[in-house]
Amino acid sequence: MKKLIAVIIMLSTLQLSRSETLQSPDKNFTMDFTLSDKGEPYYSLSYKNIETIKPSKLGFQLKKTTSLLNGFVLKTSTASSFDQTWKPVWGEVKEIRNNYNELLVELFHTETSRTMKIRFRLFNDGLGFRYEFDKQPNLGYFQVHDECTEFALSGNHKAFWIPGDYDTNEYTYTTTQLSEVDASKVDGTGIGTHGFFAKNAVQSPLMLKADNSLYINIFEAALINYPAMQLLINQKDFVLTSSLIPDAIGTKAYMQTPQNTPWRTIIVSDKATDILASKTILNLNEPSKIENTDYIKPQKIIGVWWGMHVPNTMSWDYAHAPNIKLKDTDWNALTPLPQHGASNKNVRRYIDFASEHGFKGVLVEGWNVGWEDWAGNWKEEVFDFVTPYPDFDIKALNEYAHSKGVKLIMHHETSSSVTNYERRIDAAIDVMKKYDYDAVKTGYVGWIIPRGEHHDGQWMVNHYVRIAEKMAANNIMLDSHESVRPTGLHRTYPNWMACEAARGNEFNAWSTGNPPEHETILPFTRLMGGPMDYTPGIFEIKMSYYDPKNTNQVHTTLVKQLALYITMYSPLQMAADLPENYAKHLDAFQFIKDVAVDWDDTHYLEAEPGDYITVARKEKNSDNWFIGAITDENARTATIPLDYLDEKTTYIATIYADAPTAHWQTNPMIYNINRIVVTNKTVLNQKLAASGGVAISLKKATKGETKGLKKY
Ligand code: NOJ
Ligand code: CA
Repeated sequence: MKKLIAVIIMLSTLQLSRSETLQSPDKNFTMDFTLSDKGEPYYSLSYKNIETIKPSKLGFQLKKTTSLLNGFVLKTSTASSFDQTWKPVWGEVKEIRNNYNELLVELFHTETSRTMKIRFRLFNDGLGFRYEFDKQPNLGYFQVHDECTEFALSGNHKAFWIPGDYDTNEYTYTTTQLSEVDASKVDGTGIGTHGFFAKNAVQSPLMLKADNSLYINIFEAALINYPAMQLLINQKDFVLTSSLIPDAIGTKAYMQTPQNTPWRTIIVSDKATDILASKTILNLNEPSKIENTDYIKPQKIIGVWWGMHVPNTMSWDYAHAPNIKLKDTDWNALTPLPQHGASNKNVRRYIDFASEHGFKGVLVEGWNVGWEDWAGNWKEEVFDFVTPYPDFDIKALNEYAHSKGVKLIMHHETSSSVTNYERRIDAAIDVMKKYDYDAVKTGYVGWIIPRGEHHDGQWMVNHYVRIAEKMAANNIMLDSHESVRPTGLHRTYPNWMACEAARGNEFNAWSTGNPPEHETILPFTRLMGGPMDYTPGIFEIKMSYYDPKNTNQVHTTLVKQLALYITMYSPLQMAADLPENYAKHLDAFQFIKDVAVDWDDTHYLEAEPGDYITVARKEKNSDNWFIGAITDENARTATIPLDYLDEKTTYIATIYADAPTAHWQTNPMIYNINRIVVTNKTVLNQKLAASGGVAISLKKATKGETKGLKKY
């Protein structure tokens, strides 16, 4: 039963008080709001009596009108509490408690007779606040030149950061003190669209570790009709200031009252595992707008996909045809390339493999005309999203897939010609409905059209939400690549299953790749806002397998690829490698076949950003548990207690472990699989190789099954 307690505790009138205090339900956090003598709004935050955010300014620099920075008086302040438990459509846990104390301050700007509200919500794991502009006579339309929200940190913390790029998040992380951040030194090789705008600008979520061992995560929630927020670091006093992505003419946001900004979030704990377990960002998003959620199915998929990324294997292109115009091309007259991935024969092979091994979806890229000339030319009419290549029989392939209990997954690469995509979206959806597709992967490679807009600006933020709503109206699940990083909107639009919006596994195929620590940082940064389509499960680790001269490689052991299914939470997980590579390791592949993608419960057992993560999850509506542990370039022993298991049950643990000689560089593909008997008293000590991992499945032992197995 849902429980709602809203208590109005205090209501003060105009200027009676210029300072207010808010405490978290567990009293660990205290937030102070003050107006300075100049009428500037400030907030500060402490955790367990440790100053975490020093007095920090709030407000806006506006365009062409008086700004909202000072000259405020406090009109009213209202305190309330909230405690409600809700059930996500899918997620890491079955139920989420949304419990906070709230303070709403109403500020009156005397010079312009405008009202600006700030709503603070203090949870047991941190603070969220946003600005609210009601409809009012003196504030209808306005343009934001700069949001001036500050996060004044108490010291020169260690930061896990990527540059504050307007168009991409596809970077490896750099770990430095805040004073040493220099985005100009970061290597952007392999990234299609990139450019930094200030040496001291970083992307959010920003993960920080203070000298006093506090973990601090600064981000935003519910990014709607507003640009993404990055952070500018003052490298002398460690005050971070919000920095919004501008549009083509330099404006940050176009506002019309009533309108709210997204929430600004500060999640804090003395335990790194608490940061990973936080549900504050989800709680700050609106409940689901989708009534019928029956079609939304967490699932594992395979794809005619990795073959396009590894050397010499498959192509998106059907033929050799540079500099083509869509409408002038006779596709039937072209000679097909033998390596075209989306051919009838190859797609059937994938459907067969999916059906044989229990995968529900098969993504097929390169099915539609236009791939011969799609990237790098800032081309408007790049794809039509409706015309299949001559060797992709869309009707027959979908029928074949359905007859085998499999669905094809649509691919809409827009090449960032977003105007073109919006013009064609209805026709594209008609094709999906006709052939009964219920999932789409979108993509935004390249520079945005309208030219001059950015991937993370307000115009594009609105586009991504528009697409999520449109797909929801047609019962279609969405996975978006190169879109803005998520901010918990999957609570509101649970059909928006995953996004890429970070440096995925694919970089390992064609660039210097992702260093061993990468997957130990992503959950503290990019994944704070929602699931990532990371595409784990690569078994053939070295690209020299495809091309003897190629030195690229996946920077993990094979076993760490298995563990990623647990440590990188997503309701949509791909078994990304080629079917023929899985066929060589069917014993290890069994873990990918067994692992769940939707969970009743999650326990983060150990974590340190940049070093390691160990997590246990209980499968939705089942007694099965799965555990994943990963480490960076340093081998380590993971300590894995099992005290969350049912105390009356005996379990069989199947442990997929790095072999003693495994190492991500020298011997990445060597593993051992053991079955042992465990109970909730067991504590496993598991060795992980350099950039290795362990993946464990736990099932209730049936009668007689434990015979001959070692008890741990
Ligand atoms: C980049 C995406 O991340 C990748 O998954 C996709 O295959 C290509 N773009 C082509 O759309
Ligand atoms: Ca490390």
